Amino acid sequence: MKVTIIGTGYVGLVSGACLADLGNEVLCLDLDKAKIDVLNAGGIPIYEPGLEPLVRHNVQAGRLRFTTDVEAGVHHGQFQFIAVGTPPDDDGSADLRYVLDAARNIGRHMADYRVIVDKSTVPVGTADMVRQAVSAALAERGAELPFSVVSNPEFLKEGAAVEDFLKPDRIVVGADDARATQLMRTLYAPFQRSHERMLVMDVKSAELTKYAANAMLATRISFMNELANLAEQLGANIEQVRVGIGSDPRIGYHFLYAGAGYGGSCFPKDVRALQRTASHNGTQLRILKAVEEANEAQKRVLLDKLAARLGADLAGMRFALWGLAFKPNTDDMREAPSRVVIDGILGRGGRVTAYDPVAMDEARRIYRGEKRVAFTESPLAALDGADALLIVTEWKEFRSPDFGDLKERLKQPIIFDGRNLYDPAMVKAAGLEYYSIGRA
Ligand SMILES: NC(=O)c1ccc[n+]([C@@H]2O[C@H](COP(=O)([O-])OP(=O)(O)OC[C@H]3O[C@@H](n4cnc5c(N)ncnc54)[C@H](O)[C@@H]3O)[C@@H](O)[C@H]2O)c1
Repeated sequence: MKVTIIGTGYVGLVSGACLADLGNEVLCLDLDKAKIDVLNAGGIPIYEPGLEPLVRHNVQAGRLRFTTDVEAGVHHGQFQFIAVGTPPDDDGSADLRYVLDAARNIGRHMADYRVIVDKSTVPVGTADMVRQAVSAALAERGAELPFSVVSNPEFLKEGAAVEDFLKPDRIVVGADDARATQLMRTLYAPFQRSHERMLVMDVKSAELTKYAANAMLATRISFMNELANLAEQLGANIEQVRVGIGSDPRIGYHFLYAGAGYGGSCFPKDVRALQRTASHNGTQLRILKAVEEANEAQKRVLLDKLAARLGADLAGMRFALWGLAFKPNTDDMREAPSRVVIDGILGRGGRVTAYDPVAMDEARRIYRGEKRVAFTESPLAALDGADALLIVTEWKEFRSPDFGDLKERLKQPIIFDGRNLYDPAMVKAAGLEYYSIGRA
């Protein structure tokens, strides 16, 4: 089938490559020429495990192409997937300008029936707005052409995006007409071979499902983080509490880890946008207000521990920081807790030497011209002469360090661990001071 993906970012590129891998002819469109140039030159603009060989293979097979030509994009695919960004507006609502631009472009150039698929995370009611934008653009041309608008929110996780896309837990499709539903069934048929994964529902419910999922996951994290802070005061151990509650099948083990706060391009903005949707509709989501507040505080927990141990004035001190990405296996630093930690250290007069396996280019871009932030090519090199180590992202390679070596390299043998990677007794036995989350 012929598919156009509008927006070639984390979601668009992964969706495009995976759909091409199933035999579809995919054209990925983006307005960012630099991004398309990188892709057309054989490069990958983002880090995502497994994505590079998948893209290469499908480009070579002639099933996956990239363009900045909007008209060519609209003409190519009967499916027009909108996978552009929906960043927060000034008041926290989702900014729909890119989605509606994409919709208008479809209306301007379409020549026959199109299924327009909202894959971006968009508030309830957006499908109606997309429909109106396409109709208005068609009317301007004096054209009358049939089209459908479908909601198909994406649930992939950065860091495991290819696997998630190819083996989804569920495929949510919100559609109000039978023709579009049937076409979506055909496109997604290869994912349905072992069992039915497609959940067809009305458009508004599909739009709300995506926000509900992210809001629930963010709630679990903030709940555990607040409980961790209490556990610390009480002399309890949040890791033991986690296992104690996770074993209840009604609760489950997933997403119960206490840490230095959630970040990324989705949870923070989606939690905010859902609250705005509620307030625009005269209701409140009090829980989500608390979830957000708890998370803002949690991103500063490592800084609070640093201040408690070393004082508020960090002038003359330098800190090793392991992990810049908002989570492992991605180079994405949007709303990453590491940024709050780095900014906090700089604000108190300190300096940072950071290491991350894949996010350092992104960090160099963010901290361009900032001389107080340096980077090293290995985690150990970051430690040399540092006043303490702070761990912000739980990359696998940080899990089993040689604590003796760590102690030798650090000027002050102190670890502030925002991801509870180590057994406190083991670290202490190696002669290091250790502060983690929710473990007294
Ligand atoms: N990143 C994730 O893990 C994830 C997961 C699920 C859902 N989502 C949602 O998917 C959407 C996309 O997220 P992302 O992380 O892939 O964003 P991204 O910022 O990585 O990519 C968006 C791309 O869209 C392009 N774009 C903007 N307007 C365009 C237009 N009119 N025509 C063509 N291209 C255009 C931008 O240049 C950019 O390359 C968002 O709504 C997000 O909330 C993201």
